[in-house]
Amino acid sequence: VGTISFARGVPAPECLPVEELADCARAALERDGRTALGYGSAAGYAPLREWIAAEHSVEPERVLITNGSLQGFIFLAQHLLARKRSRVLVEAPTYDRPLKILVGLGAEVTAIPMDDEGLDLDALEHELRTEPGPAFLYTIPTFQNPSGRTLSEERRARLIDLARRYDLLVLEDDPYGLVRFEGKLLPRLFDLNGSILYSSSFSKVIAPGLRVGYLVLPKALAFALEQIAVSTYITPALLGQATVLEYLRRGLLEPNLERVRELLRARRDAMLRALEREFPAGASWSRPEGGYFVWLDLPDGADAGELLRRADQAGVSFVQGSDFFPGSAGGESSARLAYSFVSPAEIEAGIARLAALLPAVTSV
Ligand SMILES: Cc1ncc(COP(=O)(O)O)c(C=O)c1O
Repeated sequence: VGTISFARGVPAPECLPVEELADCARAALERDGRTALGYGSAAGYAPLREWIAAEHSVEPERVLITNGSLQGFIFLAQHLLARKRSRVLVEAPTYDRPLKILVGLGAEVTAIPMDDEGLDLDALEHELRTEPGPAFLYTIPTFQNPSGRTLSEERRARLIDLARRYDLLVLEDDPYGLVRFEGKLLPRLFDLNGSILYSSSFSKVIAPGLRVGYLVLPKALAFALEQIAVSTYITPALLGQATVLEYLRRGLLEPNLERVRELLRARRDAMLRALEREFPAGASWSRPEGGYFVWLDLPDGADAGELLRRADQAGVSFVQGSDFFPGSAGGESSARLAYSFVSPAEIEAGIARLAALLPAVTSV
């Protein structure tokens, strides 16, 4: 039996619209091949920039398209941290790649706790009052990676208010917002206030291999980051961007989203069902209404690192909670379980395998 991976936060192969993208890539080349195959503006393929700008009701100059949104994060962090402010606030837990990037850039990373409703804003306000002047706050308010949690509507409004009162730059990273399969649609932070720095991506709504992500920024900041892009890669990969635009123009996004939401909902349901059935009282987990992830808190005293070592041998993998905390300070009894990649049947089997290992890693 092969390894069942709850570690891979990537779409299952059947989520990827291969045939349509093959058609769109050909059509994009036929329509505008000389541009798509050339060096172009480092800010991205102009017609896609316009499409994204219209989607967010901003001018195209505010949009920077990058080779995936993580690349945009790197440019933004490089720029903001070069301005002598080296402290960055993050959610605890948070997405591990930005954490590593920030540490690599020499940032001092401060963790702000979360609960089931997302970022703890009392803790954030306390931090802003006692340690003023961070470079920015990095937040993933909707279906967060790694916890699957979503910032409540009330907290969204309060976060906007705190940002204004404390002059705090906020980066809203939102690759999963459209991947909602139940519950009420919440406003983006950016929709509540257009000075929020906004990041999103076509990775989760079309395909990650296209490498098309984007930032919506104030004009001067977008221009500054474009200069970093020029000196990093001359031009972004335009063929992927032209293919995305063709896909959008054909009206394929919405039907694809409906399909992907159903595939993911079935996986989320399978995971919650299996956890309910297999895991003992004392364990608890998040119940995401969209996105890719469930956050599992093991019963008190259970060692997630030891569980992972044993799970590897038993043919199931996940990412241990401590990887998502600055300096690995936290999450010792927690795990990120991605339900996005494996089939519902594999999810049921994998959760049963994990549960069977639990007694051996729980000290009484
Ligand atoms: C919160 C978050 N931001 C950004 C990314 C990176 O996306 P992209 O493929 O656009 O670089 C991911 C990918 O998993 C993610 O979970």
